[in-house]
Amino acid sequence: MTKQTTITFTALAPIKSGTAVVLAEEGAALSPAGKALDKGLGGIIAKVAKRQEFKGKKKSSLDILAPGSGGLDRVLVVGVGKLKDFSSNDWVELGAVIRSRLSGKDSPVTVLLDGAAKPHDVPGEEAANVALGMLLRGYKFDKYKTKAAKKDGDSDNKDTQLSKVTLQSSGAAAARRAYEACKAVGEGVNVARDLVNEPANILGPKEFADRTKALSKLGVKVELLDQKELKRLGMDALLAVGQGSARPSFVSVMQWQGGKKGDAPVAIVGKGVTFDTGGISIKPAAGMGDMKGDMAGAACVVGLMHTLAARKAKVNVVGLIGLVENMPSGTATRPGDVVGSMSGQTIEVLNTDAEGRLVLADVLWYAQEKFKPNWVVNLATLTGAILVALGKEHAGMFSNNDALCKKLSEAGEAVNEKVWRLPLGPKYDEMIKSDVADMKNIGGRWGGSITAAQFLQRFIKDDTPWAHLDIAGTGMDAPKTDINQSWGSGYGVRLLNWLIAKHEEK
Ligand code: BES
Ligand code: ZN
Ligand code: ZN
Repeated sequence: MTKQTTITFTALAPIKSGTAVVLAEEGAALSPAGKALDKGLGGIIAKVAKRQEFKGKKKSSLDILAPGSGGLDRVLVVGVGKLKDFSSNDWVELGAVIRSRLSGKDSPVTVLLDGAAKPHDVPGEEAANVALGMLLRGYKFDKYKTKAAKKDGDSDNKDTQLSKVTLQSSGAAAARRAYEACKAVGEGVNVARDLVNEPANILGPKEFADRTKALSKLGVKVELLDQKELKRLGMDALLAVGQGSARPSFVSVMQWQGGKKGDAPVAIVGKGVTFDTGGISIKPAAGMGDMKGDMAGAACVVGLMHTLAARKAKVNVVGLIGLVENMPSGTATRPGDVVGSMSGQTIEVLNTDAEGRLVLADVLWYAQEKFKPNWVVNLATLTGAILVALGKEHAGMFSNNDALCKKLSEAGEAVNEKVWRLPLGPKYDEMIKSDVADMKNIGGRWGGSITAAQFLQRFIKDDTPWAHLDIAGTGMDAPKTDINQSWGSGYGVRLLNWLIAKHEEK
């Protein structure tokens, strides 16, 4: 993971050295602290802003190097549009935009967070969200880059990491408190990104399972189920996926007990296929390398557990992930094989590349049997078809419960990790009827994401509120955004953390 920037919060005070970042609203209206700084610099900021036709538009910026004769190296003016319209996610994005204009050379950086007048004031939460944006934008997966920094400042190199940032605002004490939670979120997202980005030679099922053990330092109870135990439990569907690999399968069960003892938990389940070759129904070569990310669902669960534990969330949550490698070999499952499952239902495996649903079938069943959760959400890079339907903007959402969907949609809007509901129904369910077993693992050419979801629903008890998020488009190979420049996005951590904070914590 990227070396973390140290972020501190203080009250507004004059800046004498390093880089100063100031905000400007629409019309290039500098914030009061920005104006005061400009005064000390003889009005150079206003002059440059005018000359450059800087208008304070949201996400625009203006750079002034070595202003005046004082000790400042650089003044960065960042446009914010209309501060009074800012949502909490806008503050996160502001932090990301600020971070994107900075590098290690600018250290130390001081950001003046203030607005033109009262409701534009920047008390606690907002400043903490700016810090979160900086953590998210600052993430880089560069552990395998060994080349030294180029002289001309290779911005891709770890040597240019920003080390020290001070965020000045009127509510520094409140910001410091709010940052505890925001930092936990930033770390959790970056934990998930690290897992998704890691190549599969380094991160197989065992190595992934071992990494979940690190959560115990934060107070999470982590239990690893090995192949012997999985066999004993009857998880034959999950085991059928891993049986072609030289690397044994695991399930990791992570319990965070921050709520009342005895209160039923919520369960979050993730698909953790550490590499998906397709098995005997092998995938074409082009793009197969992307399948190192076929554990983005599991990575999200681990990132979320990290966040909840690090911020000591007042809730009981159990995270469960199925960790397998899908390989072709002499021991691999063949198309046409019939396998059992922990639920007792039998499955005709007609395509070994439709493996994620087999893994989830057993982990979902185990989650319900063992924990009797109030609700279950699972995340999985389940189908290529969801990319066809929704692209990379929304995760597909499938559910048996309108209230849970509403909460997820609302959370998605709040943190900009959007979901879009797609239908389930008996006619779709018919598409996975099998001639020889209780069901088959593919539903034919049409509605591929829906038939995959129908398959999962067969392992959901009628009275368990459940939602399946298909994150094949959002969890990996993500488009670059203000808050994410990495291949693995960490999608889902902020979404579920928001939902849990809003609806599950008292
Ligand atoms: N892991 C893939 C889905 C996927 C595709 C994730 C692209 C990310 C990007 C999944 O296991 C898979 O191979 N699904 C098949 C299902 C088909 C055989 C019914 C697919 O989507 O083609
Ligand atoms: Zn597959
Ligand atoms: Zn897969």
